[in-house]
Amino acid sequence: MPIQPTARIWHNGNLIPWDKAQIHVMSHVVHYGSSVFEGIRCYGQPQGAAVFRLPEHMQRMLDSAKIYRMPLPYSLEQLSSAVVELIEANGIAPCYIRPIAFRGYGEIGVNPRHSPVEVYIANYAWGKYVAGDAADVCVSSWQRSAPNTTPSLAKAGGNYLNSQLIRMEADINGYAEGIALDVNGYLSEGSGENLFVVRNGVLYTTPLANSVLSGITRDSVLTLARHFGIPVVEQALPRELVYIADEVFFTGTAAEVTPIRSVDRITIADGNAGPITQQLADEFFGIANGLRPDRYGWLTPVNVNVEQTVTV
Ligand SMILES: Cc1ncc(COP(=O)(O)O)c(C=O)c1O
Repeated sequence: MPIQPTARIWHNGNLIPWDKAQIHVMSHVVHYGSSVFEGIRCYGQPQGAAVFRLPEHMQRMLDSAKIYRMPLPYSLEQLSSAVVELIEANGIAPCYIRPIAFRGYGEIGVNPRHSPVEVYIANYAWGKYVAGDAADVCVSSWQRSAPNTTPSLAKAGGNYLNSQLIRMEADINGYAEGIALDVNGYLSEGSGENLFVVRNGVLYTTPLANSVLSGITRDSVLTLARHFGIPVVEQALPRELVYIADEVFFTGTAAEVTPIRSVDRITIADGNAGPITQQLADEFFGIANGLRPDRYGWLTPVNVNVEQTVTV
């Protein structure tokens, strides 16, 4: 889906016109992938609109920056307020929010420490990421980065070269998405989603040590599962578990909760979203859309009229 421009982008504390948010081709990030970023959703609700788990996302961005020794001159509160300010200034909800910090124009050696850090936040209308109700996916021939290479807990631009390979391969072969294995052949995650498997009433997901991003939606789904008394296990999972699972689904800010219909053309159970996936998805969307109580304080209200409907 093409980006739909808005009026303003937040840059280093100021709201600037969309078209002025430009960088020099010799900026460090262009050459070496030296960025950290977030993807956040703002949902429309009966009473208005609200950002889903805003502080948790901004904390992850601060954490990503810390891993890469990138000093961010803004606090958690300042970054969170900037997101609200931007959404209200642009007046678009529901929307997707993309904060990004990167090494800008300074020096061109690999060492980033002498290139200035720039922080931008954009928001724009955006719909479903994995289109359709359930996804046909494959196991990718590309693996996730090994531990102690590019760190998976940092949501860094450079990590998405690996994601691009996974996603392109899936796309070219007619799949909606690819599931990557880790360096030891255990299940890891999708190119931009965490992976969940249900078998015999137990909800499994891959642990942080298997080269996954610590997804905010993953955490939300784990929280909801515990609330419903569903047994939850985080452990290394073999590839073949997905083929014999009762249910498989992805989670992510973009993918939200997306049921998986088949993996490598092997249909999961009867091919429909299973009852645990459905229960968790209903609760997740219910809270995000303001239709069920926000028990965990996950929503940050924004003052925008919900006028625009986002479609696939
Ligand atoms: C590689 C990867 N894994 C998992 C996720 C899901 O994370 P979250 O639920 O925080 O969006 C994302 C999305 O940001 C991702 O890019």
